[in-house]
Parts: sequence; structure tokens; C-alpha cells
Amino acid sequence: MKQNYKEFLDIQNHLFSFRRLRNGELIDTVKNLPSTYTKSEYLVMFDNIQFIYELTLALLEAISLGIEFEINEELKIIKILNLPDKELAKKRLAYFKSVCEELTDYYHITQRNVTKSVNQYLTHWIYPYKGKFHPQMVRALINIIGLKEGDLLLDPFSGSGTAAVEAQLLGVNFIGIDISPLCVIQGKVKTESIYVLDEIKRIRKDIIRNSCYQDIVLGRYIEKISDDERVRNFYTLARLVAVSDNYRRKKNLVDSFFRNLDLMIRSVEDYYTLVRELKINLGQVRINLGDSRNIQLPDESVDGIITSPPYSIALDYVENDKHSLMYMGYNLSKIREEFIGVRGKGKDKIHLYNEDMKKSYREMYRVLKKNRYAVIIIGNARFEGKEIPTVEFTIRCMESIGFKLERNINKNIFGLYNIMKNENILFFVKEK
Ligand SMILES: C[S@@+](CC[C@H](N)C(=O)[O-])C[C@H]1O[C@@H](n2cnc3c(N)ncnc32)[C@H](O)[C@@H]1O
Repeated sequence: MKQNYKEFLDIQNHLFSFRRLRNGELIDTVKNLPSTYTKSEYLVMFDNIQFIYELTLALLEAISLGIEFEINEELKIIKILNLPDKELAKKRLAYFKSVCEELTDYYHITQRNVTKSVNQYLTHWIYPYKGKFHPQMVRALINIIGLKEGDLLLDPFSGSGTAAVEAQLLGVNFIGIDISPLCVIQGKVKTESIYVLDEIKRIRKDIIRNSCYQDIVLGRYIEKISDDERVRNFYTLARLVAVSDNYRRKKNLVDSFFRNLDLMIRSVEDYYTLVRELKINLGQVRINLGDSRNIQLPDESVDGIITSPPYSIALDYVENDKHSLMYMGYNLSKIREEFIGVRGKGKDKIHLYNEDMKKSYREMYRVLKKNRYAVIIIGNARFEGKEIPTVEFTIRCMESIGFKLERNINKNIFGLYNIMKNENILFFVKEK
């Protein structure tokens, strides 16, 4: 059974029916090419792709680059019918490892990884932040919502800076906002350190020569380490990674500092080399400490929004990173007052969450240009044993503001740890 992409009314439903054809067999068992075709006519997806939502995003991003194709039961190997720009496809695609037998940029990017986790390539891994985006998904979403080099992407809840790195790698300019100073520093270090790599390396030598690592680890010397804020941020975050390792895994602070510092430097070197090898035009990145309920940007100034808001009351971000926030000298109860999803007590919490998110969504509507997309990745949270319909709330709220829901992709993840995790990828358009 073959299907031309133009006939798809709903890609996700078609993929489900293909999946049923295979009798529930895992999709990633596909390995061999059908003998009737030559390899050069194909787009080949990465081996680790297995979920329907990933296949859906893969097909949507191919469509967004003007590629016409045909899929069959092999699913992960797609026959190209028309490829308008092979170089562009190689440069931008996220879910494909090769285009007409030539490896994509993203394949090379993912090889630069100092961790064991496939998603944590380049600087993504730096600091163990809970609730990060899947970077490959963000790259595909940037393609799907049609952002080009030089366009401006906003993430008003930028967290650990996943979208910042992915936008930068695609030459898309980026503004991130987060209420947490710990998040702001993560986003900055992940995207700015390549510009100050030599200075970072020189200071590492100084630290060894002067044996002043105790001072660094205790945070006494960092303010004097360099005139460049980007270098100070790098060393501050290296220290916070060690603090987090020490707090969560009881690792020795000084050992952990040096081990992570060296891995961080290696990741930044990898980033630097890769940018030159692939001739990437990096996007400009700005990450601001701020409140998404009051976005400091002019009306209709951004070309797209991709964000994952706090999951209602599912994760207490302040509690989760309290050791680092305290090391940074912040007053936790003061910080809690501004954090969406952790404000208030009992039922009041949900009411406050809804009010706060409504303000943020209104701001997103205001700053987004017409005919452009806001993609919200969100799931239902559980509170006091009950499911809170956060997804439904989000759709209703966005539509009441004037957005139109254009696509809703279920991000069901089956079987990972024998639990089912549900999220939705909601595509809203700001119509004329
Ligand atoms: C789900 S996380 C985002 C994670 C991010 N997508 C990533 O890849 O790391 C939500 C973020 O919202 C931030 N946040 C909470 N209240 C906020 C507010 N009022 N304004 C801006 N950011 C806020 C939290 O600090 C947290 O980092």
C-alpha cells in the first residue's frame, strides 16, 4: 500500500493506520530498502525514531521544505518524488539522517556529543535541568512553522535554552525569556561561550597554575575572573553544575567541578569546530530575565513562537533547583511569587495558573506577526490525584484571545518506562 503525501488529510491518522497494518509491531524494525528502488531516491530517517508523533513531524518538515514524496509500509524510508533544493534539505531537516544518500547537517551535529544521551549533543547537556524540550522536535518545528535564516523566534518560557541552541544552529534569531536567573544563565552559556572560547581556556590554565580552584568552587573568585560577562557566566554555571552534582549525587565538589568544566570546554570546542565545518550562519541569541506575562517586545515583532509553558502545577521548578538558586544568592520565597504554576496553595494554585497563563498567551498574541504560528507543547497535570485539563484550557484560552488551532499532534510516548506519557503539540495561527 502506497500513499502520496498530497492525499493526506491527517498525517497522524494515516500513520496510525500504517502502524495497525503492521499488527502493532514496532515501527523501528524497518531496516532494509525495498529492492525495487535505488537508495539515491530516498530520504532516510534516523534509526532511533519510533513514535507516531516523530514520523508526523518528519513528514510535515519535509512538506515545509517543498519536498514531494511517497510513503509505503517502510515508513522511515521515504521515496522522493520531487526535491526542489537538496542542499537546503540537507542543511535543515531534523528527523532525517540522509537525503539521496548524503548525510544531513543534523546527523553531523548529533555526533558531537560528550554524553550517553542521544539528545544531549553540543552544549544541550550542560546543567541537569528537568523538563527540557526534545531538541530534534524543536528543530523540526522551526522548519514546519516556516522560519527562515534571519527570522525571529520567541520562547517566552525558555528554560534551559533548548530552543535557543536549535534556533542558533539554523541561523534563526532568537529571544528567550525566563523568570529564573538559573535558566537565563543556562541559555546564555549554551549559546554565547563559542565566542569566548580562548578566554575560557586561558582561565582554566590560570586556575590550575594559581591553585585557586577552592575559591572558584566556593564562588569567591568568579566576579574577578574576567571582564567579559560571558566568561564569568561560563564559570558560574560550571560551578552550579558541580553544586547540583554534589547535592543530587553526593559527588565531591572540586572533582565534579573539574570533570564538568573539562566536558563543558570540550562541548564548546565541538560547537566551534562544527560551525566552521558545516559553514553554519549562526542566529543571534538574546536571553532575558523577565516575566512572560509582560513581554518587553513591540507589537507584531516576532515571526514565530515555540514554547513549553510550566505544566500547571506538575513540576515545582523552584524546589527542584533550590540548591543552585540559593548558591546564586536568591531568596526562594521571593522568587516563588513570580513563578507560574508554583504560586498559591490548594485549589487557588490552579486558578492562579490559569490567570497567569491567560496573561502570557495574550502577550504572545500581541508580539506575534499576523499569519504566523505559536506552537505550544503542553500536557495535562495531576493534582491531588485528579487530572487537570490543562490542554483543553490552553486551547480554549488561546482561541478566546484570537488564535486559531490549526493542528493538534498527540505526543503519546508508549512503553518507554512502561508508562504512557501524554503531551500535545498545539499549532496556533494568528490570522489576519
Ligand atoms: C517547561 S519549562 C521550559 C523548559 C524549556 N522548554 C527547556 O527546553 O528547557 C517552563 C519554564 O517557565 C519558566 N517560568 C515560570 N514562570 C515564568 C514567568 N512568569 N515568566 C517567564 N518564565 C516563567 C520556568 O522557570 C521554567 O523554566
